[in-house]
Amino acid sequence: MHKGFSTTLIRGGEPQADPPPPPAPLTTPIYETTAFVFDTADEIRQYNEGHGGRFLYSRYENPTVMAVEATLAVADSAEAGLVFSSGMAATSTVLFALLRAGDEVVCGAAVYGGTRSLLESFLPRFGVPARMASSEELAAPERLLGPKTKLLWFESPSNPTLRCVGVARIAQACRAAGVVSVIDNTFASPANQRPIILGVDLVMQSATKYLGGHSDITAGVVCGAKPIVHDVEMVRRVLGGVLDPQPAYALGRSLKTLEVRVARHNASGLAVARALEGHPAVARVYYPGLPSHPDHAIAKAQMSGFGGMVCIDLHGGEPAACRAFDQLQIVRRAPSLGGVESVCSLPILTSQWGYTDAQLASAGISRGMLRLSIGLEDAGDLIADIRQALE
Ligand SMILES: Cc1ncc(COP(=O)(O)O)c(C=O)c1O
Repeated sequence: MHKGFSTTLIRGGEPQADPPPPPAPLTTPIYETTAFVFDTADEIRQYNEGHGGRFLYSRYENPTVMAVEATLAVADSAEAGLVFSSGMAATSTVLFALLRAGDEVVCGAAVYGGTRSLLESFLPRFGVPARMASSEELAAPERLLGPKTKLLWFESPSNPTLRCVGVARIAQACRAAGVVSVIDNTFASPANQRPIILGVDLVMQSATKYLGGHSDITAGVVCGAKPIVHDVEMVRRVLGGVLDPQPAYALGRSLKTLEVRVARHNASGLAVARALEGHPAVARVYYPGLPSHPDHAIAKAQMSGFGGMVCIDLHGGEPAACRAFDQLQIVRRAPSLGGVESVCSLPILTSQWGYTDAQLASAGISRGMLRLSIGLEDAGDLIADIRQALE
């Protein structure tokens, strides 16, 4: 049989001739295959013994997937990266890889709801309790770390009020206490914030947002130093949450424009935030690039741009928020964020659905909030659209 030969099962068909050697492509091809062919038993032995450069099964490794992982590691200034079938697959794999029964997790209270529910509802079943910490408590992280704390998970900026915490301070306190620090950097993306440079051990991101950037890929990423990423990879093999080659290719393509897309998200986010601050219908604008944001100084010190997420709180509470939401024309009514098209969501109907007034108050969220993900449309058009919706 020929090397690289693909059999066509046609009755009476003759084997095809050897294809010519593949030309050198300018872009990374999509290796749409579940398994890889070996010529000899010795080659399989070499693979099993860990001699690099060979592939066995796409749940373990695939050239298209590895190409995007290498790009993501560079983007995050990390030694290694891994991609997953979603942000939650990345999160759950990290937690299952690094935690054992008897460990404890400290988690920023203002994290993504899925992460919170994994930590509060699932991990305790495996003997791993989680302790929630407010942004104020995360400002003095050493006080939060006890003898059983194995891992600290946090977000900055957080959803939807874009609260920021001192990333380097948390990383330093964790390192001193032998605790693994993990940041969910989804809202910032590496174009605006490089947590590895700030000393964090692992960076997780939902690539479904800015990294993918076109609202058409569901994926997750973890980046960090080689040994810890290796531990996570071994668990990914077993849990099976790897990304398929097709979306891995699409993600690689998206990353080529990450910097330019995020530069525009930043500029338009700031323009929208400034335009809405002082609007008579708006009680408050939450945007870390505005001096009025409670964490502006922290954001300025650790971010190179403030992103495309803007949250506004309306004077008229829930009825006013719903009315404005329904009136939007260019901005679409959809969950998620980080795409080229602007979208708006009502936190009380999405991430904070079912919260009591007391729970909303403790999360710093009001019933009159609109969360905007500012896309790449003309900023003037977006401002005009939001203004008309408010009036
Ligand atoms: C900040 C943050 N982290 C993690 C996730 C989970 O990512 P995914 O939906 O790709 O699983 C989300 C999803 O909205 C998110 O907003």
